[in-house]
Amino acid sequence: MAQSTRGTYWITTFGCQMNKADSERMAGILELMGYAQGSAEDQADLVLYNTCTIRDNAEQKVYSYLGRQAQRKRENPQLTLVVAGCVAQQEGASLLRRVPELDLVMGPQHANRLESLLTQVESGQQVLAIDEHQILEDITTPRRESGLCAWVNVIYGCNERCTYCVVPAVRGKEQSRLPGAIRLEIEGLAAQGFKEITLLGQNIDAYGRDLPGISSEGRRQHTFTDLLQQIHEVEGIERIRFATSHPRYFTERLIRACASLPKVCEHFHVPFQSGDDELLKAMARGYTADRYRRIVAQIRQLMPEAAISADAIVGFPGETDAQFRRTLALVEEVGFDLLNTAAYSPRPHTPAADWPNQVEEAVKVERLQELNALVEQTARQRSGRYLGRTEEVLVEGVNRKDPGQLMGRTRSNRLTFFPAEGHGVGDTVPVRIEAIRAFSLTGRAVPRAALVR
Ligand code: SAH
Ligand code: SF4
Ligand code: F3S
Repeated sequence: MAQSTRGTYWITTFGCQMNKADSERMAGILELMGYAQGSAEDQADLVLYNTCTIRDNAEQKVYSYLGRQAQRKRENPQLTLVVAGCVAQQEGASLLRRVPELDLVMGPQHANRLESLLTQVESGQQVLAIDEHQILEDITTPRRESGLCAWVNVIYGCNERCTYCVVPAVRGKEQSRLPGAIRLEIEGLAAQGFKEITLLGQNIDAYGRDLPGISSEGRRQHTFTDLLQQIHEVEGIERIRFATSHPRYFTERLIRACASLPKVCEHFHVPFQSGDDELLKAMARGYTADRYRRIVAQIRQLMPEAAISADAIVGFPGETDAQFRRTLALVEEVGFDLLNTAAYSPRPHTPAADWPNQVEEAVKVERLQELNALVEQTARQRSGRYLGRTEEVLVEGVNRKDPGQLMGRTRSNRLTFFPAEGHGVGDTVPVRIEAIRAFSLTGRAVPRAALVR
């Protein structure tokens, strides 16, 4: 651990993997600056909340956390209090007015600038950093939570305009990292012993659109598929995952590349949001339910073993019962391995928030429960296919509920538990699946020869 010359820090991260990746980079910067990771939030010298505002409840959580730290700051003015991430970007100066104890409010595009922002704080200023910013290549070393699985940003921001979503407003325009920089980061990870990487983008298929370069056939030179191929060559990395795919840009070329690249895991995360065409249009998603069905059919044809997961929203403005039933029908038809579900939450500065046809909260809750019950059922059915099969599991840790068991994931991303019996974290173990639940599996390690691929 780094020598602590500045005291300790504590980071709490809300929201998606982008925020988790940003937090790891900010932790790396703090450690280079001489902070050491603290063991208690209420004793740390610097507290940073990396926030999420995708739904109102995510945003409200931050205020309750902040209340406690503001109180502490009044007793101990030496405490440095930072709000980073999407609430910081959305609320900006009004956050400083609401919580005047804050030292620094910084949007997600400023994560890599944490050191220079803190230097300004140290000179006695209250700092607000939310202007549109060209994201600088990260020159520091992230402090990653795992030594095995790493997140790697490939594209920041989002150029879509889904009518319910705050992300474009808080994360800004798409900015692709250069393929060389991404590859260098992954080579570094492999050298440190990382075995799995997850490439991140809000709309990963948009990767490269903003980079210069058109090939002689007039094709974009930097596509996500090209990037996958380049990364695949990095020795030492065993598994490659990626998220999120947008149905509008999803291509057969991508599925074919995944099928032909052995390190790319058999899992696609393609949110559909709603099974009703009118609602999809109102959401400005740019595809129909049938287009989504065709994507699923293509995946199942070219990669029959692939897991498919998605996100869906219930109670979007104007959603009728019949429209909601179309979402249920799609879920039943596709049989998702996992579905992240949410009740629509009106967000500031998004078009749908101002529409008069909002759905009642009670109806949203009811629909959410009905959808979740169905998801559990289809997920259990999907888990059923593993029974008696042998799956390759990359061990990530110990089962928290049973220290005699290890915990890891199949290539298709199913959480799997099995008795350790001499295996340990970082091993890739063939596991014969003996029991299934909706979202996890239990099995027993078997000799490698049992693994047929
Ligand atoms: N870029 C990804 C999603 C990022 S946000 C995509 O386009 O699929 C993650 C999920 O949060 C979304 O897929 C959506 O299901 C949900 N979400 C976004 N805004 C929401 C809102 N206002 N209310 C409820 N759920 C929302
Ligand atoms: Fe939000 Fe749509 Fe962009 Fe996804 S694609 S982040 S849902 S605006
Ligand atoms: Fe939340 Fe921002 Fe991610 S709003 S979901 S942390 S992009």
